[in-house]
Amino acid sequence: MAEEPDTDEGTELEARLAEGETYEPPASFVEQANVSDPEIYEEFEENWPACWERAADMLSWNQAYDTVLEDDDAPFYRWFTGGELNASYNCLDRHVEDGAKNRAAIKWEGELGETRTYTYSDLLYEVEAFAASLRELGVEEDDVVTLYLPMIPELPIAMLACARIGAPHSVVFAGFSADALATRMNAADSEYLVTCDGYYRRGDPLNHKEKADKGLRGVDHDVETVVVDRLGDELNHFLGASAHDYEELVSEHEGESVEPVSRDAEDMLFLMYTSGTTGQPKGVKHTTGGYLSYAAWTSHAVLDVKPEDTYWCAADIGWITGHSYIVYGPLALGTTTVMYEGTPDYPEKDRLWDLVEKNDVDIFYTAPTAIRAFMKWGKQYPDQHDLSSLRLLGTVGEPINPRAWQWYYDHIGDGECPIVDTWWQTETGGMMITTLPGVGEMKPGSAGPPLPGIDARIVDASGDQVEAGNAGYLTVNNPWPGMLRTLYRNDERFLSEYWQEYSDEEADEWVYFPEDGAKIDEDGYITILGRVDDVINVSGHRLGTMEIESAIVGVEGVAEAAVVGGDHEIKGEAVYAYVILEDDADATDSMRDRIIEGVEDAIGPIARPEEVIVTPELPKTRSGKIMRRLLEDIASGNELGNTSTLRNPEVVEDIAAQVGND
Ligand code: WTA
Repeated sequence: MAEEPDTDEGTELEARLAEGETYEPPASFVEQANVSDPEIYEEFEENWPACWERAADMLSWNQAYDTVLEDDDAPFYRWFTGGELNASYNCLDRHVEDGAKNRAAIKWEGELGETRTYTYSDLLYEVEAFAASLRELGVEEDDVVTLYLPMIPELPIAMLACARIGAPHSVVFAGFSADALATRMNAADSEYLVTCDGYYRRGDPLNHKEKADKGLRGVDHDVETVVVDRLGDELNHFLGASAHDYEELVSEHEGESVEPVSRDAEDMLFLMYTSGTTGQPKGVKHTTGGYLSYAAWTSHAVLDVKPEDTYWCAADIGWITGHSYIVYGPLALGTTTVMYEGTPDYPEKDRLWDLVEKNDVDIFYTAPTAIRAFMKWGKQYPDQHDLSSLRLLGTVGEPINPRAWQWYYDHIGDGECPIVDTWWQTETGGMMITTLPGVGEMKPGSAGPPLPGIDARIVDASGDQVEAGNAGYLTVNNPWPGMLRTLYRNDERFLSEYWQEYSDEEADEWVYFPEDGAKIDEDGYITILGRVDDVINVSGHRLGTMEIESAIVGVEGVAEAAVVGGDHEIKGEAVYAYVILEDDADATDSMRDRIIEGVEDAIGPIARPEEVIVTPELPKTRSGKIMRRLLEDIASGNELGNTSTLRNPEVVEDIAAQVGND
């Protein structure tokens, strides 16, 4: 079978691409694009911040807003103040009222091949029934409801039911551990949990309820729990004393209508916990008006979503990408959004292409890590399917190397679909840096210019803009509607994490610092280089090295740990754990297994170390700081620079000899 170009050819291609091969969007795409006028950049700049009315206009408001942006309390910006709306109304009722009640809202496919389609009116019906159920359980406006569910339709249903009654949701990724669930429920004081019995992974039923129960034992207050029966008889659908059955609740409230609560634009729509520099996850707060406007606007302008499209973002709703671009953005625009429960290689490595063909998917959005895996599996898998329904491709979550970009362009898009490489974060709510697919030329490996209205810059350590061709730190120098408003119950941390580095408080000039490094070229195209804090990006998932380290030092026998990211062919980065054991502990396989288990228990399998390297010492500077950079180079197999400034240069060789020799 034909394989990808061998290494030599690959390297040559990479070099050619690095030199700046560019691609124009195909004329056939431009003709039909939602946004195709290059003037949009100037229009936004000249009318800033009024330009953002364009985003707000994508929604239906119960009460028109008075002011687009209020900045008197910056960086606690407020958007569309005075306005009132409901997110669930915007994602459901208005489409039903507009004659789209029979259009598919969600097309879901389970891992074993079963399918479910919810039209807009079906979805509204079930959302209302579950909203009524939540109310019956005592959920009131502003109560945080935790949703610990895998990729099943009940997840977006529960999100929209929460939104309908004005209860912010906090979705915890189903792959996270029991401890991670407990930490998040405690931090949010969340007294309600929606979870399920289990789900399928590679054909096998996974017991999710057991994990949820274990998590609940770590929650310091009472919790009302609702359990969705995903697996039927496959697993014993055991409900604890205080748990409610989702199906039963919904059937009791079937047919009830629940008025969407009118929410202030600045009222919280949801919380999403994400990793930061310190061990405690950060509760990113997003609002109803700004966030939803921004998710809808970027879905329209960047993903080119139209109501008649079938759109598929192959992310998990447990992350921000799924919130903005599986649920809120596409449903606000009234399109058909596809959801897939399982893994891309089950039962075969063509599963996703089979789904694209069967559903006539128009737009496909995924992460570079997935593309690198597809590339490794070979083009014979997409080649087995008719992918001609595709019009636009997108990527998100981590830098895409030009070769993977090219493969995606050639083998999935058949050279006819523009690719949008979208840079953004949990905190930004939606896309910030990317080409507009009907406007800008594409440069593989570079995300593109900031979106209209976004003032992103690359600066040096003192905050001055770097010259074209140089690298520096990415900053965002004006606010945008989708931005986080604060970290839940922690304004101080909000200020110190994002606004301290480059703002001039005296001058009331506020600069948002996303903690990414980046490069800019003469056309203003930005290439993201990766995090500059202690966050690593494993398969597009954001993990805090401190969180992993604290899990490891919690394992009996471990004295000290340093966790870094090392280059990984598919995952982008992988977790490398350097560990010092206590005197009486031995570096046995079972010790390594316990360390890995410790990480899985504290966070989840996604944080599992690729290698655990036991060492008597960590390389330290004379002042006693761990040389992380050096540990990263060792993990990545890079050439090691001068180590003579270390206090203990002799440990380096010893460590390096261990890496990759397992
Ligand atoms: C990284 C995911 C390069 C970046 C939406 C950012 C990217 C972090 C890109 C946020 C991209 C996201 N190119 N890097 N197109 N998109 N990143 O919060 O380091 O899970 O800071 O949000 O992912 O991860 P998060």
